Amino acid sequence: MSTEVKGWVNARRIVGGIVFLEVIPSVSIKPVTVVIKKSENPEAWKIAKRIKVGSAVRVYGEYVLEGKSKRGIEFIPSCIEVLSTPRDALPYDPLGKTPVLFDTKIKYRYLMLRTPKERALFRIRATLLKYARRFLEEKGFLEVQTPKIVGAGAEGGATLFKLDYFGRQAFLAQSPQLYKQMLMSSLTGVYEITPYFRAEQHHTTRHLNESWGIDVEMGFIEGMEDVMKVLEELVIYVIKNVRNECSEELEQLGVDLTVPRTPVPRISYEEALNLLEKEGCQVKWGLDLSDRDEKKLGEIMLEKGYELYFITNYPWAIKPFYVMREGAELSRSFDLDYRGIEICSGGQREHRYDRLIENMKVKGLNPEDFNFYLDAFKYGMPPHGGFGLGVERLLMKMLRAENIREVILFVRDIHRLVP
Ligand code: 4AD
Ligand code: MG
Repeated sequence: MSTEVKGWVNARRIVGGIVFLEVIPSVSIKPVTVVIKKSENPEAWKIAKRIKVGSAVRVYGEYVLEGKSKRGIEFIPSCIEVLSTPRDALPYDPLGKTPVLFDTKIKYRYLMLRTPKERALFRIRATLLKYARRFLEEKGFLEVQTPKIVGAGAEGGATLFKLDYFGRQAFLAQSPQLYKQMLMSSLTGVYEITPYFRAEQHHTTRHLNESWGIDVEMGFIEGMEDVMKVLEELVIYVIKNVRNECSEELEQLGVDLTVPRTPVPRISYEEALNLLEKEGCQVKWGLDLSDRDEKKLGEIMLEKGYELYFITNYPWAIKPFYVMREGAELSRSFDLDYRGIEICSGGQREHRYDRLIENMKVKGLNPEDFNFYLDAFKYGMPPHGGFGLGVERLLMKMLRAENIREVILFVRDIHRLVP
């Protein structure tokens, strides 16, 4: 049956009277080999012989029945149309024989999506988000969108991007935290797939200035265990479905994606410190775990057979004002770590108006600056909690990428504002 292939020429080979064009079509990760014989189609052969690598083409013809070809998917054209010829040589080797510098890859990400590897990666990213959405929809959460230009931050002043809003001070949203909580005054469960804007001061392999999160907030909870249960199920569901649906893509990337062992263990902050101490890592009680400590804990947990684990009940002093206290020193909070790196933070929130104001004062914040948020707590705010799951953090660990920049199309870090 006659059909068409639209795509780009990644390679051209001429062998005697035959031209082979390797075309990467639409969104598939498998290239198509277009075979043009001079003896059969002199017209098309003449065009094919002169086609430059990098050209955009539309080819009409027929696929060779599977099994007949040794070169993968073959296509015999009746007619070739060259839609656009490149002005310059491609800035990377389209056959992937010469390794691409990391900087080049990030700069030309949009072009490199012509290669099977980059396509595989971003198809997996899309699949991850598709299943996250599917899971949350099935659980009855309502998808919402909250503003990204905001008047107050929730996750600490150091990483706020400031901007001028008609003469008033505004910020880019670090997280939908305050807004998703405000919605708990009227809805019982919401989620948002959203960018986070953070002026990260350090250049690391795990921080971006614009990253994406899957944010969930749920009301009428008994405690943070309700929240952890949803998060655990979500992550396992996503990994299982990516594993099933993206087997070709994972193979292309050489990744063996294992489903983490469940139930996901819950270790307290206190226990985490003890485990680390036994391995010779001293962490002073009251401090956050350093990158090194997190990594070490990842090794300890992996030895016990766990890739995914919760660290619960951090000291309240190192958590944001909205987190509910647990006793005098601790908090109803958790992190979810995946092979030695935090991929999510969450917990139960303080829903009691007076205590929330008290918490703000203790953290040195002026409640006046948060009146728009505090108003929502005056009219029957139920107990609630939620989490923010880092899309790039989850994806980089699933794919065993060394650098978070690998898994986002257009990177925003200290050095990159374009493309
Ligand atoms: O731990 P964070 O700061 O927590 C919050 O934003 C809370 N509002 C979440 C909640 O609902 N309680 O950010 C959540 C997650 C982190 O665990 C991390 O995976 C990711 O977002 N993240 C970043 N990823 C890449 N680059 C950055 N600069 C990130 N900042 C946070
Ligand atoms: Mg965190």
